[in-house]
This record gives sequence, structure tokens and C-alpha cells, in this order.
Amino acid sequence: MKKIAYIKEKIKSFNKKVYVPGDKSLSIRWILMASQAVGVSVAYNLLKSEDAISALNAIKKLGINYKLNKKDCKIYGKGFDGFKFKNKTIINAGNSGTLARLIFGLLINSKNHIILKGDKSLQRRDFSRVIKPMQMFGENIKSNNDKLPIKIKGTNFPRPINYFESKGSAQVKSCILLAAMKTPGMTKIKSVPSRTHTENLFKYLKLPIKIKKEKKLDFISFKGKKNYQAFNYIIPGDISSASFFIVLTLLSKNSKILIKNINVNKSRTGIIDILKKMNAKIKIKNRKIYKGEEIADIECKYSPNLKGIKINPKINSRAIDELPLIFCLACAKAKGISYAKNLGELRHKEQDRLKFVIKFLKMIGIKTIEKNNNLKIYGNPNLKLNRSYIIKDFMKDHRAFMLACIAALTLGGKKWIIHDIDSINTSFPNFISLLKNLGAKIS
Ligand code: S3P
Repeated sequence: MKKIAYIKEKIKSFNKKVYVPGDKSLSIRWILMASQAVGVSVAYNLLKSEDAISALNAIKKLGINYKLNKKDCKIYGKGFDGFKFKNKTIINAGNSGTLARLIFGLLINSKNHIILKGDKSLQRRDFSRVIKPMQMFGENIKSNNDKLPIKIKGTNFPRPINYFESKGSAQVKSCILLAAMKTPGMTKIKSVPSRTHTENLFKYLKLPIKIKKEKKLDFISFKGKKNYQAFNYIIPGDISSASFFIVLTLLSKNSKILIKNINVNKSRTGIIDILKKMNAKIKIKNRKIYKGEEIADIECKYSPNLKGIKINPKINSRAIDELPLIFCLACAKAKGISYAKNLGELRHKEQDRLKFVIKFLKMIGIKTIEKNNNLKIYGNPNLKLNRSYIIKDFMKDHRAFMLACIAALTLGGKKWIIHDIDSINTSFPNFISLLKNLGAKIS
């Protein structure tokens, strides 16, 4: 299999309409929630990437059948007590932090041990953030230093908990909500705001969730355990995937794009707010609500006058997966200095993404100062690249690979040699072919 992408020239101007694959967060949540429903659930436009397939494989190992067709996916849910598997069954979450964290919640009532594994990148990530609340529920967990592989067994008598989720992590919040769903009694979460897809699904399924939003915190209370029936879902496009095409267009002379049918849930649109503040020409069109999620088309145009920005850290979790792209491209090409604070969570992603950003910006000649996870980027609108660049050793981080391709197509340079092309299979398998449809030359 071809492992390296070579890019030798910038993309020429384009004016196109594109669709990106289904949202990864919603796809994984639908798979996990459908596995607990009573009856056959169907999803359309489910993301068919390695992370989503790992989630399907995981429920299959736990005794839940699925059928993945060309146009739809069916899951044959058996309710909260439907998991049936042999002791020490192995689940491999691959690269997916979301699957690995959320599955702890579903295993709260499992009768046998599961051994949860993951790839090299996932093995270095921290699981104490879910181990702690799950142990409070009564789950039995054995690990070495809170890292994978981890042995998990549920309890016959899960206890509802009161928990302060202080990281702004939707993975932690969702893991707790899934455990609470299978636990009698009232679970309460005081949470730094993060993406709200799990809560929206709960509301759509009429599960008894209450949310009170205060200035800096969400107060969530949820009463388990109420069964729900199978449900169908049309997964909208992923804004995290769309982001690469947004930034590509902003930095490509005389170009315009319409990205159709994207999930623009407010807890995900930090990138749009940040880029608009920087003078980016972006419009959200045809807004509609689907099962509690907001969906729209994103139109965006070449924006030659980007200016530096002071990012309010409150926005970080609304743009957590897009921050590296914003820093390495938009802030690098903006006039003036950009500031961002409290970026510690970026260190806990598929790789240490803060370290990657600093290394990348240094490589293309952009000055940065980093102190205590706060970052200053000295933008240069006249940035001209004329040497060759090699991108490798980034833990096959899918978003780092795609960011590097957009850099190569917009910043120029002699030649870009970008390793680990197969990393895109994690979240966006047709990334390269969509770029080629816009006219990109990638070999
Ligand atoms: C996700 C939440 C985010 C994000 C990840 C997907 C989710 O992680 O980075 O790509 O689907 O809940 P954290 O919640 O840990 O920040």
C-alpha cells in the first residue's frame, strides 16, 4: 500500500460544492446507543472509517449483531442486558479515544471481564479520567498506570454518582451518561461545557435528562434506568472534516466552496467563530434542526485579509480538534500575533498536538512562544516557502496528516513529502479523492 503523499504545487482556484463523510462523534454514539436499544435501529450516512468500524466490531464482540450495507447500517439491539460474551473477551478500540472512553460506560453491568486494547497512539493516552468516575459507579477496573490494556468488569449493583467533570471533555461526560443510563437512581454531573451530542440523543429518545446551563458550567441530572426503543438516524456531515476544506478555501486565491449538510451544533462550531473573527469569509446557510442537532451548509470564500486573534479559552472545547489547523495555517498566514491559552488538553490527543503545532510552525518559519500551555503565534501574511518539507513521526495522527496536505496545497514550497497516508482511514477515508476533485495534484 502507498504510504506517502507527494505534493509539489499549490491548488489552482476552484468553485465547487462538496459533501464530507458522516460525523464521527455522532456515528460512534449512534452505534453504542443503538446497541442498547430494543429492536432494529438503522443509520444512513454512517461514517465508514476505522474508528466507526472499531465501534461496530466492539458491539459485535459483546454479542450484538449488525449489518453494514452500502447505504445504511442496521444494529440489532437487545436492551440494557443484551451483552453476551465470554470472560476475557478482547475489544480493540484501535485509534479511537471516543470509543475506548465511552465503552467503559456501557460495560457498567457486564457480567464478565473485557480486556480493552488500542493502537500505539491510544496506548499512550490517559484513562484515569474515565477510570475515576467509573470506579465510583462500582465498575471493576484493573490497569497499569491508567493506560491500555485495561481489564473491565461491571457490577450487579451500580450506584449513581455526583461528579465534577473539569476538563471540558465530552468523552468523559458521555461515558458517565452511558453508565448512568444503565444505573437506577439520579446521577449528577457538574461539567465544563463540551460537545452535547449524547445529551441531544438522550433528549430525542425521551430519556429523563435535565440540563441547567450557568455561566461557566453545565449542571446535568439524569435518572436511570429507562429502556428505549430502536431508533433511526441520518448522520450529518462532520464539521471536523469540513474544516480542512474551509481553511483550504480561505487560503486559495479566487476560490469558493459550498460544504453541504454539516452538523453545526453550537458546541462544535468554535472554528467558524474563530475564523470569522479573523476576517474569514464564511456563511452558514439553510439551517435546520434534525433530532435536536443543528444542520446547515457552509459557504466559504478566499479571504486574503486574515488578522491575528486572541482566542478566548472558553471556546477551546468547541474547537478542540480544529485548533491545530487554525494555529498552523490561519494564524500562521494572519497579520499580527495570535494568542491562545489553556491548551493542555491538546497534549492528550492522538499525539501531543501542541508539540506538533510548535514543531510544524518552526519548520515553516513562523515564530511561536509557548509557556505553560499558552501559545503566541507571530503570523506572516507574506509567508513564502521555497524548500522541501518532510512530515513524519506524528503517531499516524489523521488530523496532522490532513493539516500538512492543506499546508502543502496553500503555502507552496518546492515539495512536500507527507508520510502515513493511511492515517486518513481513521476519520476521513475519501479525503485525498475529494481534494483531487477540487483539482489538487497529489501523487
Ligand atoms: C470527542 C470529544 C473530544 C474530541 C474527540 C471526539 C467525542 O475529545 O477531541 O475527537 O466524540 O466525544 P474530549 O472530549 O476528550 O476533549
